[in-house]
Parts: sequence; C-alpha cells; structure tokens
Amino acid sequence: MIDKKYMQMALELAKKGCGFVNPNPMVGAVIVKDNEIIGEGYHQAYGMFHGERNAIKNCKKSPKGATIYVTLEPCCHYGKTPPCTQAIIEAGISKVVIGSLDPNPLVRGKGIKELHNNGVEVVDGFLKEECDALNEVFFHYINTKIPYVVMKYAMTMDGKIATYTNQSKWITGEVSRKKVHEDRHKYSGIMVGVGTVLLDDPMLNCRLDNRKNPTRIICDTNLRTPIESKLVSTAHEIPTIIATSESDIDKQKIYKDKGCRVIVVPKKDDHIDLRELMIILGEEQIDSILLEGGGALNWSALKSGIVNKVHTYIAPKIFGGINAKSPVSGIGVDNPENSFYLKNTKVIKLDEDILIESEVVHECSPE
Ligand SMILES: NC(=O)c1ccc[n+]([C@@H]2O[C@H](COP(=O)([O-])OP(=O)(O)OC[C@H]3O[C@@H](n4cnc5c(N)ncnc54)[C@H](OP(=O)(O)O)[C@@H]3O)[C@@H](O)[C@H]2O)c1
Repeated sequence: MIDKKYMQMALELAKKGCGFVNPNPMVGAVIVKDNEIIGEGYHQAYGMFHGERNAIKNCKKSPKGATIYVTLEPCCHYGKTPPCTQAIIEAGISKVVIGSLDPNPLVRGKGIKELHNNGVEVVDGFLKEECDALNEVFFHYINTKIPYVVMKYAMTMDGKIATYTNQSKWITGEVSRKKVHEDRHKYSGIMVGVGTVLLDDPMLNCRLDNRKNPTRIICDTNLRTPIESKLVSTAHEIPTIIATSESDIDKQKIYKDKGCRVIVVPKKDDHIDLRELMIILGEEQIDSILLEGGGALNWSALKSGIVNKVHTYIAPKIFGGINAKSPVSGIGVDNPENSFYLKNTKVIKLDEDILIESEVVHECSPE
C-alpha cells in the first residue's frame, strides 16, 4: 500500500537541506518495510550523498523487498556522487514511489526507466504538487541556467518603502524580519542597487545561527559603492560581487583589494544589463537571488523579465509623503493593461504584518 504520510515525511526531511544543497535540489527519502520505517535520509549539502543513498545507509534492517519514498526521481548518472538508481537496485528495494520527475536532461525519465528495466516497481507523480513546489528554484535553474529571482520588499499600508527622509529601519516586525533572514539562507545570492548601499549602508547577511550567508551582489554601473561601506569592509568574510560597467582596472583594483569580486557587465539603458548579469551569475552556480531593491533596481529587474516571484511584506503603518519611495519606481506602465501580472498568490499572516507571495506572469509583461 502507498501511504501519503511517508512522502510527507520525505518532504520534511528534504527541507533540512534548504540553503545548503544549492544548486542541487532538496531531496528526502524514507524506506518502509512491513509498515515500519527502516531508513530515512536527505541530501544534506552540495557534493554530498543524495537522499536515497543516505536513507539506504541509515537502514536499521535489510532494505531487501522494501519500498522507498523519494521526493525526486533518483539520478542515474555519475555526478559528484554515483547514481542513486544503482544503490536502490543493489539494495534489493522492490518498489520506488517518486514525487517529482527530475528535469535535469541527464536524468529526465531515464532514472525511472533504469529502475523498471531492473525489475523495480515504480510509481511516479505521488504528491507531485508538493514535491514540485519544494524545488521551484532547481527546476527553474536547470531549465534556464539563470538564477530564480525573488523580489522582496517591505512596505507600509500606503505603499512606502522608506520615509521621505529615506529612513527604512524598521518597517515590519520581528517575525517578518526573521522570515527574511530564513530566505537569505535559502537563496544563493542577495542583490541590491547602489542607491540602497549609499542610503542604508546595509550588511545583507543572514543573522540566524547555523545558517549561511548569501553572496552579496551590488548593481553599481559606475563603481560608486563607498570603500568604507559595510559591504566592502566585510568582503573578505562574506562573498561580495560588484557588478559594474566600469572598465578602469585601477578603480576595480581598489574593490578587489578589499575582497570584492568585480564582474564587468555591458550597459543597457545607461545601467548594467541585468539579463547579461543573470547569465554570468548562473555560470557561477548562483541558482537563486533575493532581490532586495530598492525601487529603481526593482523596476529594471521587472522590465528585463528576470523576476520570478514577488514577496511583499505589508506592515500596519502609514508613512505618507509625496517624496517617500515606493517599492517599484522607474517610469512605470502607461496603462493598467500593460501591468506586470502576478498569479498563484498566497497570503501569509506574520504577527501584525502580512506577506503576499505571487509568481510573475512573463507572457503578459510589457517586454
Ligand atoms: N523597504 C524595503 O524593503 C527596501 C528595500 C531596499 C531599499 N529600500 C529603500 O530604497 C531606497 C533606495 O532605492 P533607490 O531606488 O533610490 O535605489 P536602488 O534601486 O537601490 O539603486 C538604484 C541605483 O542602482 C544602480 N543600478 C545599477 N544597475 C541598474 C539597473 N539595471 N537598473 C536600475 N538601477 C541600476 C543605478 O545607479 P548606477 O547606474 O550609477 O549604478 C541606480 O541609481 C532607500 O531609501 C532604501 O532604504 C527599501
């Protein structure tokens, strides 16, 4: 009998790898024999064994004749580790229940085929929706080779991201801010415009215990980032990239000496070309980015079609002020029918704040 609860357990196990496995997928596995869980495992960190191998390794009894529940199709190729299909076949597991199909061209159905060919019964697409949702970053990155971008901002109920004096600390409450730090751990990179660096001097690190810092990326066309800024001063400890169109090697060297990586990106409409930057960052294995604005960069990011999701935090406050900034500036659209459309909206209550998560619909953008 196939039981939902085992796949749900596998999903929970998979989540433990969040933030550590990128650009790999999160994968969890549970091995069941005679209605008893005999092994559990998950992919713990990039380069380490996959969930299936860990579950087999952790078995307290022989897995011969058992069923394995795994959130993603087992791999059948040699990557950083040997194929999981081989481990399953060698362990004598007789049935494999799979959540998502692996979109990696090296696997994509081949894992299932190999199991079939070796007499293993396979059930696929079990709790597919939940399993697919877990790895939205991986699915996007493996198909496009560019990072999955989540545009995040915190605003008041009148849609302001700062006061008219440019003060933005703090808009939301502690629960929301903790969630943001979880996302800083979850995604590989965090990106801001130089305007935010000049006004806020942020650290952009993850302030939770036993979590990792994302690579910090500053969009700075003309190298205006202050040398004494927190980002530059801590670049030896936390990976920091300055994306610029400034070709002056001496100017670049000042930042490189401080520990920053300087990436030269061509210009588009007077600023760095964000699409080109995404291609370069994708090649650097940055599979996901939390885009923390401000408004000018957010507008360009939307316009260039690189944003996949929007996280809007709304605090029960009102700032007012005709000159107080809003989350997306730029020129804006001329007509409501040219809006950037969002779909699959989820609303989450975070203490007194509200978080709205939506996916960007690309076909309808003004692009
Ligand atoms: N509440 C929140 O969630 C939140 C989050 C972030 C920021 N903020 C607030 O937002 C304000 C800053 O926003 P902002 O709009 O002034 O600045 P911004 O968006 O952070 O930075 C804009 C600058 O980024 C540079 N840039 C590089 N490539 C770009 C591109 N492709 N498109 C657009 N700009 C690009 C441009 O200067 P160059 O071309 O010279 O490089 C531009 O002037 C601050 O007050 C900050 O507190 C609030």
